[in-house]
Amino acid sequence: MTLPVFADVDTGVDDAMALVYLLASADADLVGIASTAGNVDVHQVCRNNLGLMELCRVDVPVSKGAEQPLRTPLRTAEDTHGPQGLGYATLPATDRQPTSHDSAEAWVRAAHAHPGELVAIAVGPLTNLALALRREPALPRLLRRLVIMGGAFDYRGNTTPVAEWNVSVDPEAASEVFNSWNKAWEGEAPKHLPIVLGLNITEDIAMTPALLARLATEAGSTSTPMSEHDERGRRSTASNPLIAVLEDAMRFYFEFHFDDGEGYLAHLHDPLAAAVALDPDLVRCRAAAMDVELTGTLTRGMTIADWSNRWGREPNALIGVGVDPQVFFDRFITRVGAFARRLGSHS
Ligand code: RIB
Ligand code: CA
Repeated sequence: MTLPVFADVDTGVDDAMALVYLLASADADLVGIASTAGNVDVHQVCRNNLGLMELCRVDVPVSKGAEQPLRTPLRTAEDTHGPQGLGYATLPATDRQPTSHDSAEAWVRAAHAHPGELVAIAVGPLTNLALALRREPALPRLLRRLVIMGGAFDYRGNTTPVAEWNVSVDPEAASEVFNSWNKAWEGEAPKHLPIVLGLNITEDIAMTPALLARLATEAGSTSTPMSEHDERGRRSTASNPLIAVLEDAMRFYFEFHFDDGEGYLAHLHDPLAAAVALDPDLVRCRAAAMDVELTGTLTRGMTIADWSNRWGREPNALIGVGVDPQVFFDRFITRVGAFARRLGSHS
Protein backbone atom coordinates (compact mmCIF):
# COMPACT_ATOMS: atom_id res chain seq x y z
CA MET A 1 0.00 0.00 0.00
CA THR A 2 1.39 3.45 -0.89
CA LEU A 3 1.16 6.01 1.89
CA PRO A 4 0.98 9.79 1.22
CA VAL A 5 3.95 11.25 3.14
CA PHE A 6 4.77 14.84 4.12
CA ALA A 7 8.29 15.70 5.31
CA ASP A 8 9.28 18.75 7.37
CA VAL A 9 13.07 19.02 7.24
CA ASP A 10 15.98 21.37 8.02
CA THR A 11 18.15 19.83 5.28
CA GLY A 12 21.07 18.97 6.61
CA VAL A 13 22.95 15.86 5.79
CA ASP A 14 20.73 13.35 7.56
CA ASP A 15 17.55 15.14 6.45
CA ALA A 16 18.71 14.68 2.85
CA MET A 17 19.24 10.98 3.47
CA ALA A 18 15.76 10.74 4.98
CA LEU A 19 14.26 12.36 1.87
CA VAL A 20 16.19 9.98 -0.37
CA TYR A 21 14.93 7.04 1.67
CA LEU A 22 11.32 8.20 1.20
CA LEU A 23 11.85 8.72 -2.54
CA ALA A 24 13.41 5.25 -2.72
CA SER A 25 10.47 3.59 -0.94
CA ALA A 26 7.71 2.11 -3.10
CA ASP A 27 5.33 2.32 -0.11
CA ALA A 28 5.76 6.11 0.13
CA ASP A 29 4.31 8.83 -2.07
CA LEU A 30 6.14 11.98 -0.97
CA VAL A 31 3.49 14.67 -1.50
CA GLY A 32 5.27 17.67 0.00
CA ILE A 33 8.40 18.98 1.68
CA ALA A 34 8.41 21.79 4.24
CA SER A 35 11.68 23.70 4.62
CA THR A 36 12.40 24.67 8.22
CA ALA A 37 15.25 26.84 9.48
CA GLY A 38 17.64 24.87 11.64
CA ASN A 39 20.84 23.25 10.45
CA VAL A 40 21.12 26.16 8.02
CA ASP A 41 18.87 29.16 7.33
CA VAL A 42 15.52 28.52 5.69
CA HIS A 43 16.58 29.86 2.26
CA GLN A 44 19.49 27.41 2.18
CA VAL A 45 17.27 24.57 3.41
CA CYS A 46 14.90 25.37 0.55
CA ARG A 47 17.74 25.45 -1.99
CA ASN A 48 18.99 22.10 -0.68
CA ASN A 49 15.54 20.54 -1.00
CA LEU A 50 15.03 21.87 -4.53
CA GLY A 51 18.53 20.78 -5.59
CA LEU A 52 17.95 17.31 -4.17
CA MET A 53 14.69 16.99 -6.16
CA GLU A 54 16.68 17.98 -9.26
CA LEU A 55 19.35 15.36 -8.52
CA CYS A 56 16.71 12.69 -7.88
CA ARG A 57 14.67 13.76 -10.93
CA VAL A 58 11.38 13.98 -9.01
CA ASP A 59 8.75 16.71 -8.73
CA VAL A 60 7.77 17.08 -5.10
CA PRO A 61 6.46 20.53 -4.07
CA VAL A 62 8.89 22.28 -1.72
CA SER A 63 7.62 25.07 0.50
CA LYS A 64 9.61 27.63 2.47
CA GLY A 65 8.88 28.09 6.16
CA ALA A 66 9.41 30.78 8.77
CA GLU A 67 12.77 32.55 8.85
CA GLN A 68 12.95 32.48 12.65
CA PRO A 69 11.82 30.21 15.51
CA LEU A 70 8.71 31.30 17.40
CA ARG A 71 10.54 33.25 20.13
CA THR A 72 14.25 32.50 19.98
CA PRO A 73 16.76 34.00 17.52
CA LEU A 74 17.75 31.34 15.00
CA ARG A 75 20.93 29.39 15.63
CA THR A 76 22.33 27.27 12.80
CA ALA A 77 24.78 24.34 12.72
CA GLU A 78 27.21 24.80 9.85
CA ASP A 79 29.90 23.17 12.02
CA THR A 80 27.90 19.94 11.89
CA HIS A 81 26.37 19.95 8.43
CA GLY A 82 28.72 22.21 6.47
CA PRO A 83 28.46 25.82 5.22
CA GLN A 84 25.51 24.99 2.96
CA GLY A 85 24.10 22.14 5.00
CA LEU A 86 25.21 19.19 2.87
CA GLY A 87 28.79 18.77 3.97
CA TYR A 88 31.17 18.80 1.01
CA ALA A 89 28.43 17.90 -1.46
CA THR A 90 27.25 20.17 -4.22
CA LEU A 91 23.84 19.66 -5.79
CA PRO A 92 22.98 20.25 -9.44
CA ALA A 93 21.79 23.72 -10.39
CA THR A 94 18.03 23.96 -10.77
CA ASP A 95 15.45 26.54 -11.79
CA ARG A 96 12.85 24.88 -9.61
CA GLN A 97 11.02 27.28 -7.28
CA PRO A 98 9.32 26.79 -3.91
CA THR A 99 5.54 26.92 -3.65
CA SER A 100 3.96 30.37 -3.36
CA HIS A 101 2.40 29.36 -0.02
CA ASP A 102 4.49 28.88 3.12
CA SER A 103 5.26 25.64 4.95
CA ALA A 104 2.57 26.01 7.60
CA GLU A 105 0.03 26.29 4.78
CA ALA A 106 1.64 23.33 3.03
CA TRP A 107 1.12 21.21 6.17
CA VAL A 108 -2.56 22.16 6.33
CA ARG A 109 -3.19 21.65 2.60
CA ALA A 110 -1.51 18.23 2.62
CA ALA A 111 -3.54 17.10 5.63
CA HIS A 112 -6.81 18.30 4.09
CA ALA A 113 -5.92 16.63 0.78
CA HIS A 114 -5.38 13.28 2.51
CA PRO A 115 -7.68 13.34 5.57
CA GLY A 116 -6.85 10.55 7.98
CA GLU A 117 -4.29 9.09 5.57
CA LEU A 118 -1.31 11.46 5.64
CA VAL A 119 1.87 10.16 7.28
CA ALA A 120 4.26 12.94 8.31
CA ILE A 121 7.78 13.31 9.62
CA ALA A 122 9.14 16.37 11.38
CA VAL A 123 12.90 16.09 11.60
CA GLY A 124 13.94 19.69 12.15
CA PRO A 125 12.87 22.33 14.64
CA LEU A 126 9.06 22.26 15.06
CA THR A 127 8.48 25.90 14.14
CA ASN A 128 6.36 25.30 11.04
CA LEU A 129 4.43 22.42 12.53
CA ALA A 130 3.52 24.64 15.48
CA LEU A 131 2.40 27.39 13.07
CA ALA A 132 0.36 24.82 11.14
CA LEU A 133 -1.34 23.64 14.33
CA ARG A 134 -2.26 27.25 15.18
CA ARG A 135 -3.83 27.53 11.71
CA GLU A 136 -5.52 24.10 11.85
CA PRO A 137 -5.95 22.81 15.44
CA ALA A 138 -7.58 19.65 14.06
CA LEU A 139 -4.33 18.66 12.33
CA PRO A 140 -3.68 15.77 14.80
CA ARG A 141 -7.02 14.24 13.79
CA LEU A 142 -6.21 14.61 10.07
CA LEU A 143 -2.88 12.78 10.27
CA ARG A 144 -2.67 8.99 10.10
CA ARG A 145 0.77 9.07 11.74
CA LEU A 146 3.37 11.61 12.82
CA VAL A 147 6.98 10.76 13.57
CA ILE A 148 9.07 13.47 15.22
CA MET A 149 12.84 13.32 15.47
CA GLY A 150 13.53 15.39 18.55
CA GLY A 151 14.50 15.43 22.19
CA ALA A 152 16.59 13.11 24.31
CA PHE A 153 14.93 10.92 26.93
CA ASP A 154 17.00 9.99 29.99
CA TYR A 155 19.97 10.75 27.75
CA ARG A 156 22.41 13.61 27.29
CA GLY A 157 21.78 16.36 24.79
CA ASN A 158 23.83 17.17 21.69
CA THR A 159 23.37 20.94 21.83
CA THR A 160 23.43 21.63 25.58
CA PRO A 161 24.18 19.01 28.22
CA VAL A 162 20.47 18.15 28.28
CA ALA A 163 18.88 19.52 25.06
CA GLU A 164 18.74 18.02 21.58
CA TRP A 165 19.18 20.30 18.53
CA ASN A 166 15.68 20.32 16.98
CA VAL A 167 14.00 21.04 20.31
CA SER A 168 16.76 23.42 21.44
CA VAL A 169 16.43 25.66 18.35
CA ASP A 170 12.72 26.24 19.03
CA PRO A 171 11.61 24.96 22.46
CA GLU A 172 8.37 26.96 22.39
CA ALA A 173 7.35 25.32 19.12
CA ALA A 174 8.14 21.88 20.49
CA SER A 175 6.10 22.56 23.61
CA GLU A 176 3.15 23.78 21.53
CA VAL A 177 3.30 20.69 19.33
CA PHE A 178 3.53 18.20 22.18
CA ASN A 179 0.74 19.91 24.09
CA SER A 180 -1.59 20.19 21.10
CA TRP A 181 -2.23 16.52 20.66
CA ASN A 182 -4.66 15.76 23.49
CA LYS A 183 -6.41 19.12 23.00
CA ALA A 184 -7.28 18.11 19.43
CA TRP A 185 -9.03 14.98 20.68
CA GLU A 186 -11.12 16.93 23.26
CA GLY A 187 -11.80 14.27 25.87
CA GLU A 188 -11.75 11.34 23.44
CA ALA A 189 -8.84 8.92 23.71
CA PRO A 190 -6.48 10.04 20.91
CA LYS A 191 -6.60 7.51 18.04
CA HIS A 192 -2.81 7.82 17.69
CA LEU A 193 -0.05 9.73 19.43
CA PRO A 194 3.05 11.14 17.75
CA ILE A 195 6.00 8.76 17.70
CA VAL A 196 8.92 10.71 19.17
CA LEU A 197 12.44 9.51 18.41
CA GLY A 198 15.04 11.15 20.62
CA LEU A 199 18.82 10.86 20.62
CA ASN A 200 18.46 7.96 23.05
CA ILE A 201 17.32 5.82 20.10
CA THR A 202 18.55 7.66 16.98
CA GLU A 203 22.16 7.47 18.12
CA ASP A 204 21.89 3.68 17.83
CA ILE A 205 21.77 4.24 14.06
CA ALA A 206 25.41 4.93 13.21
CA MET A 207 26.47 5.08 9.56
CA THR A 208 30.08 3.94 9.02
CA PRO A 209 32.43 3.94 6.01
CA ALA A 210 31.84 0.18 5.67
CA LEU A 211 28.06 0.62 5.52
CA LEU A 212 28.45 3.47 3.04
CA ALA A 213 30.63 1.20 0.89
CA ARG A 214 27.87 -1.46 1.05
CA LEU A 215 25.41 1.16 -0.20
CA ALA A 216 27.69 2.03 -3.15
CA THR A 217 27.98 -1.66 -4.05
CA GLU A 218 24.20 -2.07 -3.87
CA ALA A 219 23.94 0.88 -6.27
CA GLY A 220 26.41 -0.71 -8.68
CA SER A 221 28.73 2.22 -8.05
CA THR A 222 32.41 2.53 -7.34
CA SER A 223 33.02 3.95 -3.88
CA THR A 224 35.59 6.14 -2.16
CA PRO A 225 37.49 4.52 0.72
CA MET A 226 36.94 6.68 3.82
CA SER A 227 38.78 6.86 7.12
CA GLU A 228 39.80 9.35 9.77
CA HIS A 229 43.30 9.23 8.25
CA ASP A 230 42.17 10.83 4.98
CA GLU A 231 43.01 14.43 4.29
CA ARG A 232 40.00 16.56 5.20
CA GLY A 233 37.52 17.22 2.46
CA ARG A 234 38.68 14.54 0.02
CA ARG A 235 35.99 14.42 -2.65
CA SER A 236 34.09 11.35 -3.74
CA THR A 237 35.14 9.45 -6.88
CA ALA A 238 31.96 7.34 -6.93
CA SER A 239 30.65 6.63 -10.42
CA ASN A 240 27.00 7.00 -9.40
CA PRO A 241 25.77 10.61 -9.11
CA LEU A 242 23.66 10.06 -6.00
CA ILE A 243 26.31 7.97 -4.24
CA ALA A 244 28.86 10.72 -4.98
CA VAL A 245 26.64 13.33 -3.32
CA LEU A 246 25.95 11.09 -0.30
CA GLU A 247 29.67 10.30 0.09
CA ASP A 248 30.63 13.98 0.01
CA ALA A 249 27.87 14.84 2.47
CA MET A 250 28.72 11.95 4.79
CA ARG A 251 32.47 12.67 4.84
CA PHE A 252 31.83 16.08 6.45
CA TYR A 253 29.40 14.44 8.89
CA PHE A 254 31.95 11.68 9.73
CA GLU A 255 34.60 14.34 10.35
CA PHE A 256 32.25 16.28 12.68
CA HIS A 257 31.40 13.18 14.73
CA PHE A 258 35.08 12.19 14.88
CA ASP A 259 36.07 15.67 16.14
CA ASP A 260 33.19 15.46 18.63
CA GLY A 261 34.73 12.31 20.10
CA GLU A 262 32.06 9.92 18.76
CA GLY A 263 34.36 8.08 16.33
CA TYR A 264 34.48 8.19 12.53
CA LEU A 265 30.78 7.54 12.11
CA ALA A 266 27.56 9.52 11.69
CA HIS A 267 24.22 9.26 13.44
CA LEU A 268 21.34 8.91 10.98
CA HIS A 269 18.68 10.53 13.16
CA ASP A 270 16.30 11.56 10.38
CA PRO A 271 16.48 8.45 8.16
CA LEU A 272 15.33 6.43 11.18
CA ALA A 273 12.30 8.73 11.50
CA ALA A 274 11.55 8.24 7.79
CA ALA A 275 11.81 4.45 8.06
CA VAL A 276 9.58 4.40 11.16
CA ALA A 277 7.00 6.58 9.42
CA LEU A 278 6.62 3.81 6.82
CA ASP A 279 6.93 0.96 9.34
CA PRO A 280 6.37 1.83 13.03
CA ASP A 281 7.21 -1.76 14.00
CA LEU A 282 10.88 -0.94 13.42
CA VAL A 283 11.06 0.56 16.93
CA ARG A 284 9.79 -0.28 20.37
CA CYS A 285 7.92 2.61 22.01
CA ARG A 286 6.55 3.47 25.44
CA ALA A 287 3.58 5.80 25.89
CA ALA A 288 4.16 8.64 28.32
CA ALA A 289 3.23 12.20 29.09
CA MET A 290 6.13 14.36 27.98
CA ASP A 291 6.91 18.05 27.89
CA VAL A 292 9.69 20.56 27.21
CA GLU A 293 11.48 22.73 29.77
CA LEU A 294 11.15 26.37 28.68
CA THR A 295 12.43 28.44 31.60
CA GLY A 296 15.27 26.42 33.10
CA THR A 297 18.49 28.39 33.28
CA LEU A 298 20.54 25.26 32.62
CA THR A 299 17.83 23.01 31.21
CA ARG A 300 15.90 25.05 28.63
CA GLY A 301 15.00 22.77 25.71
CA MET A 302 15.24 19.57 27.77
CA THR A 303 12.56 16.98 27.02
CA ILE A 304 11.11 15.15 30.01
CA ALA A 305 9.13 11.90 29.88
CA ASP A 306 6.92 11.21 32.88
CA TRP A 307 7.33 7.42 32.86
CA SER A 308 5.83 7.03 36.37
CA ASN A 309 2.84 9.33 35.80
CA ARG A 310 3.89 11.79 38.56
CA TRP A 311 2.11 14.60 36.72
CA GLY A 312 -1.17 12.69 36.39
CA ARG A 313 -1.42 13.71 32.74
CA GLU A 314 -2.62 11.58 29.81
CA PRO A 315 0.21 10.26 27.61
CA ASN A 316 0.86 12.57 24.64
CA ALA A 317 3.67 10.65 22.92
CA LEU A 318 4.91 7.20 21.99
CA ILE A 319 8.59 7.51 22.84
CA GLY A 320 11.05 5.33 20.95
CA VAL A 321 13.10 3.18 23.33
CA GLY A 322 14.54 0.36 21.21
CA VAL A 323 15.63 -0.40 17.63
CA ASP A 324 17.65 -3.05 15.79
CA PRO A 325 20.18 -1.08 13.70
CA GLN A 326 20.87 -4.03 11.41
CA VAL A 327 17.23 -4.30 10.36
CA PHE A 328 17.23 -0.56 9.63
CA PHE A 329 20.47 -0.58 7.62
CA ASP A 330 19.52 -3.66 5.61
CA ARG A 331 16.32 -1.90 4.57
CA PHE A 332 18.01 1.48 4.01
CA ILE A 333 20.77 0.01 1.84
CA THR A 334 18.40 -2.19 -0.17
CA ARG A 335 16.01 0.67 -0.96
CA VAL A 336 18.45 3.55 -1.44
CA GLY A 337 20.92 1.33 -3.32
CA ALA A 338 18.27 0.27 -5.84
CA PHE A 339 17.06 3.87 -6.18
CA ALA A 340 20.60 5.14 -6.83
CA ARG A 341 21.16 2.34 -9.36
CA ARG A 342 18.01 3.34 -11.30
CA LEU A 343 19.05 6.99 -11.19
CA GLY A 344 22.54 6.09 -12.39
CA SER A 345 21.15 4.16 -15.34
CA HIS A 346 19.36 7.32 -16.58
CA SER A 347 22.32 9.68 -16.30
O1 RIB B 1 19.73 16.41 16.86
C1 RIB B 1 19.68 15.80 15.60
C2 RIB B 1 18.73 16.52 14.72
O2 RIB B 1 19.18 17.87 14.56
C3 RIB B 1 18.66 15.95 13.30
O3 RIB B 1 17.37 16.15 12.78
C4 RIB B 1 19.65 16.78 12.54
O4 RIB B 1 19.35 16.88 11.15
C5 RIB B 1 19.46 18.13 13.18
O5 RIB B 1 18.32 18.74 12.59
CA1 CA C 1 17.12 17.44 10.74
